[in-house]
Amino acid sequence: MNPPAILLYFDEEHAAASRLAEASGLAFARVERHRFPDGEIKLRLPDTLPERVVVLRTLDHPNEKLVELLLAARTARTLGARHLTLVAPYLAYMRQDIAFRPGEAVSQRIVGRFLADLFDAVITVDPHLHRVATLTEAVPARQAIVLSGAPLLADLVAQRRPGALLMGPDGESAQWIAQAAARHGFDHAVCAKMRHGDHAVEVELPPVPVAGRAVVLLDDVASTGHTVAQAARLLLAAGAGTVDSAVTHALLSDEALRMMRQAGVGDIWSTDTIPHPTNAVSVAHLLAQALLNLGQADG
Ligand code: R5P
Repeated sequence: MNPPAILLYFDEEHAAASRLAEASGLAFARVERHRFPDGEIKLRLPDTLPERVVVLRTLDHPNEKLVELLLAARTARTLGARHLTLVAPYLAYMRQDIAFRPGEAVSQRIVGRFLADLFDAVITVDPHLHRVATLTEAVPARQAIVLSGAPLLADLVAQRRPGALLMGPDGESAQWIAQAAARHGFDHAVCAKMRHGDHAVEVELPPVPVAGRAVVLLDDVASTGHTVAQAARLLLAAGAGTVDSAVTHALLSDEALRMMRQAGVGDIWSTDTIPHPTNAVSVAHLLAQALLNLGQADG
């Protein structure tokens, strides 16, 4: 039997922390944060901690959060934590996994190593692992655990759009499409995508009939929204009845949402890995189960 653990969270994630605390039965406490006029931050954790500490920090807009994690994890160790788990429902910097041009930082490896040096275990949801097979290659922590939002999104699509044609906007989405399709027997296909820049995306539809179909574009992340928007334009031009979108991580700005809607995307659903108006399903129980398994594995 493991000693009790505590869940630490930051202000902006109070709602997510409550859901996770309720699902996992963990006690939870807020990390106090003060921002000095010069932009530096000071953190204050509960002054005594149990041996097992879980830190919840989703890593959208990650730069400052990485400094917070450095301060929080090092402080937690001095306050008694022996086993530190990071729950980062969205894990940043996973897309830059090679140097595309000489001299570029391979951010995935650097940020992954940084987190592995701070935490014994890292739990995340649908990390963008393209050219590496396992999360451990990117984040070499003692335990690096990957969960998927695709089954939750598949269940939602099955309720809202029974009989939908599930479509992945690019080759990398094939893994999530396959998982979701297997769960409900959806027809499915995957587009080809060429990215020419942050806001320039070329999509080629697969050779499957779409006329009159309710198509749902399913992907791990939508950021500028151009991938989904471009796929939607092509699908509607090819006669699709409706095009909706389901993503695990909604990094979308208001402007990106507007652009997607102008392109004809109907409903946009996301999981709550990142707090966002499109959140439609919660990963709290998934995370809680992973924490439970981790406790059992370590017990
Ligand atoms: C990349 O391959 C991902 O799976 C997404 O398709 C991509 O990040 C979406 O980005 P955006 O919304 O900026 O087009």
